[in-house]
Amino acid sequence: MKSEILQNTIQKLFTKDKGILAADESIKSIDKRFEILGIPQTVENRLAWRRLLIETPDVSNYISGVIFYDETFKQEIEPGKTFAEYCEEKGIIPGIKVDEGLVDFPNFPNEKITQGIDGLRKRFEEYFLLGARFCKWRVVVDVKTSTDDIIELNLRNLAIYASLAQEAGIVPILEPEVLYDGEHDIHECREKMSYVLTHLFGDLAIYRVDIKNVILKTSMVLAGKKSIQKSTPEEIAEETSILLMSTIPENIGGVVFLSGGQTPVESTLNLSNIINKGPYKFPLTYSYSRALQDPVLESFAKDMNNVDGITKIFIDRLQMNTLALKGEYTTDKETGISSTINQVTHSQDL
Ligand code: G3H
Repeated sequence: MKSEILQNTIQKLFTKDKGILAADESIKSIDKRFEILGIPQTVENRLAWRRLLIETPDVSNYISGVIFYDETFKQEIEPGKTFAEYCEEKGIIPGIKVDEGLVDFPNFPNEKITQGIDGLRKRFEEYFLLGARFCKWRVVVDVKTSTDDIIELNLRNLAIYASLAQEAGIVPILEPEVLYDGEHDIHECREKMSYVLTHLFGDLAIYRVDIKNVILKTSMVLAGKKSIQKSTPEEIAEETSILLMSTIPENIGGVVFLSGGQTPVESTLNLSNIINKGPYKFPLTYSYSRALQDPVLESFAKDMNNVDGITKIFIDRLQMNTLALKGEYTTDKETGISSTINQVTHSQDL
């Protein structure tokens, strides 16, 4: 029964040519983005911003699911209707970020573990009743500085989280984000990602997680932002496709990409090129936060009442990514509506 619920969710999430919107920034993360753009950091503005994204006309033509943060998940989008209920009506699957963010780990300077396992079983029961059908847990890995010991600890927690999610009938997205920040080259990035994914799938097997009901959320393989050697789109597509094909079990529910601090155009172009390196044995799509939201948020910051103008930008970005999912995107397809931003905003919880 639970397995059927999970399978049904996976199938809907990977509806052809649709992506998953990550709108699950914690209060701290979204407030940081608001602050940079001069948007007052209030509960009303966070609500207005998430409403605007979800109420964008025809958004369900482009996305199959949305990941929310706890605050949004429990808010009403309109009197008497939660975000989750609204999404269900529109044919969009509501998801929930359940990790409780990153914290320092004693005796491992600058390393982070993800917290939130305590009480998770109970929270899952509650989220299921509130309508959540998939969820996310994010850990971070730095290519140069993360130690194997802390990586192992984080991966084990991902496996525990995945078991508890499946028990509750909620599809787990496992996100071991290999950070784009740093000076590493593309080969170092692939090597670290290969280590992480191999160990992750090893742990999932040990803890008997049902792999067909799991979604991996992964970074792309590319040189760090501060590397002197910038990766070309061809290299990124080549290295990423090799990584996917060599480390991911064929029977996994599916794989989604995060944007990780790339610009919207870079994320869309790289997605399209990676798709063209396929076919892959598993479904593949995107689950971006910044690469979808940044141009839209800049417009929201200028005039949050210009709903038509703001939502047009969002739809334009979604359309570009739909082209990418078909492997048909090239930068000359950009209309100019959503391709320029002043800056990529702050990452989640760093
Ligand atoms: O945890 C990060 C989000 O799920 C994806 O965010 O596309 O801005 O990297 P991003």
